[in-house]
Amino acid sequence: MKNIIILASGSGSNAENIVKFLADTSNVKVSHILSNNVNAPVLLRAKNLNIKTKVFNKTEFNESGEVLKFLKKEQPDLIVLAGFLWLVPTDIVKAFPQRIINIHPALLPKHGGKGMYGAKVHQAVIENKESESGITIHYVNEKYDSGDIIFQASCKILPSDDADSVAQKVHALEYQHFPRVILALLEQQ
Ligand code: GAR
Repeated sequence: MKNIIILASGSGSNAENIVKFLADTSNVKVSHILSNNVNAPVLLRAKNLNIKTKVFNKTEFNESGEVLKFLKKEQPDLIVLAGFLWLVPTDIVKAFPQRIINIHPALLPKHGGKGMYGAKVHQAVIENKESESGITIHYVNEKYDSGDIIFQASCKILPSDDADSVAQKVHALEYQHFPRVILALLEQQ
């Protein structure tokens, strides 16, 4: 049985979509959903999906090694950032080489970097009058949104679009592709 741990900071619709998709596979499961935000709706989704959760703070993530220790104990085959907003510290990146992936709601290298998440990304796409946006799934390194790209998919942006409608198009791409890319990566391991 392969084992995934998801890190999420907010709503968690991608986390839920991944859990539901993998429920139909016999050899992969999401063992835990971890969050840095005790009020994140993803924690309620996890409870409803019967997935174990763990909440951590900045010290446990960046300084005391508490989260690293937990991850080493659980030995996930893949750590999936699905709407997770903190930079992953070097000790965790180094402990899981090519084993941590992130989804970014734009076509990197455009519209990435510190502070670029969720609606802010879609707002930037509108302000720049882009004709397309999309999703990027990439390995995580020590810098925001700059690890090797694994997969991208794009959608057209129309003059009538606003940040909300772009978000909807991008979410649709995320739901369609993210679980399949995760499964493909696990099959290659
Ligand atoms: C997703 O669109 C994801 O790509 C984005 O946050 C959203 C989370 O939605 N991630 C980032 O912006 C990371 N820089 P969800 O909580 O409903 O899955």
